[in-house]
Amino acid sequence: MKIAVIGCGYVGLVSGACLAEIGHEVICTDNDSSKIKALNSGHIPIFEENLEDVVKRLHASGRLKFTSDIPEAIRAGDAIFICVGTPPLDTGDADLSAIENVARLIASEARSPKLVVEKSTVPVQTGKQVRRALQVYGRGHGVQFHVASNPEFLREGTAVEDFLHPDRIVLGVEDQGAERQLREIYQPILDQKFKCPVHAGKCPPMPPVKLVVTTINSAELIKHASNSFLALKISYANVIADLCERLSANVDEVTAAMGMDPRIGSQFLRAGLGFGGFCLPKDVQAFIRLAETAGVDFSLLKEAEFVNKRRISAFVERVRKALWIVKDKQVGVLGLAFKANTDDIRFSPAIEVVTRLAREGARIQAYDPQAAERAQALLPDIQYAKDAYATAKGAEALLILTEWPEFRSLDWEKVRDSMLRPLVIDGRNLLNPGKMAELGYEYYSFGRPERSAVVPVV
Ligand code: UGA
Repeated sequence: MKIAVIGCGYVGLVSGACLAEIGHEVICTDNDSSKIKALNSGHIPIFEENLEDVVKRLHASGRLKFTSDIPEAIRAGDAIFICVGTPPLDTGDADLSAIENVARLIASEARSPKLVVEKSTVPVQTGKQVRRALQVYGRGHGVQFHVASNPEFLREGTAVEDFLHPDRIVLGVEDQGAERQLREIYQPILDQKFKCPVHAGKCPPMPPVKLVVTTINSAELIKHASNSFLALKISYANVIADLCERLSANVDEVTAAMGMDPRIGSQFLRAGLGFGGFCLPKDVQAFIRLAETAGVDFSLLKEAEFVNKRRISAFVERVRKALWIVKDKQVGVLGLAFKANTDDIRFSPAIEVVTRLAREGARIQAYDPQAAERAQALLPDIQYAKDAYATAKGAEALLILTEWPEFRSLDWEKVRDSMLRPLVIDGRNLLNPGKMAELGYEYYSFGRPERSAVVPVV
């Protein structure tokens, strides 16, 4: 099928590339022409495992195209995937102006029937507004539009794999034509019949992909409800970590045993600095606002958001207590991205921690395997080190702010010997407290018994 993807952000780029990978003819467009120019010259604007290979290969084959001519893309696609951003407004509501703009453009430019698919994360009932905009601004052309919601559940860092091997595909439709077209689009994934770029064509056995067909309203709600639940789970684990700290239990032990219950599940129970990124925090806010507007009390979610915000303050307080005086101390920072395997720093807890400590006069020396360049634009006044060892050199404290696996396997003896004071404050519970104490570190993390080489102060 011919598919147009509007918006070449994270979701748009991954969706476009993967839809081409499974055999469709895809044309991607964006109102940022510099992005399109870069993509056409082989530069992928985000770091995402497997994406570069897929984009370059399919672009070269002609099955994946990029154009800054939005009307051209609209006319070319039988199905149009809307993947534009829905950033938070000051009120916490999602800003839907880009969605409206795209709907208006589709309405005025389309000359043949179109299936318009919302992939951006939007509040429930946006589909209704999209349909209305298509009718209002498309009058006079006699073009038939079908509207559908097809939320995306991919995670940054494993986005290509998540798209091609999803646990479920949700189709929010209001007519059979839309359902038929979407089934056709996703059939290769439902059948798992495509040459997988992630597993070099030899995918491990996986449970069958579930297809869930719902109304548009339900599909929109499923996305917000899912992300908000993940956020709730993380905040729950973080409160359990606080309890463990006060009552001398170990959050790793508690959450591991909890997760063995299939009703609970082991994922998203990792305690630490809390959730960041461009999805969970904004979706939680938007869902709270949506509930308020609908007259439903969702204090439960508000509390999860408060718990998350308090994580940063609690961590900074921990640094203050351990260092005593923050001003003029050299502090090494490991990790700036909002999570591992991405260069994304949007709403990153690490950036917030660094900003606060820099404001208090700490001399920060930071390292991130992928996100340093982006961080430099946002935080030009701190120092950036070429690797983790250079970050630790001469530091009075080393902070772990992103869960990059490579930090776990550093030569921690070498790190210790180069630091002015062997103090590690681990915001991601990445290291083993017992081992760190054995190595002579003063080591703090969240919700685990302090086994420090010196008398603990926190
Ligand atoms: C999230 C959802 O997981 C995806 O399913 C969804 O499709 C996506 O948002 C989206 O709406 O586009 P993502 O933003 O890539 O994906 O990040 P997550 O893997 O959910 O992690 C979010 C944050 O939670 C990170 O800062 C991570 O460090 C933190 N986290 C995660 C924890 O603190 N503890 C955990 O146990 C898990």
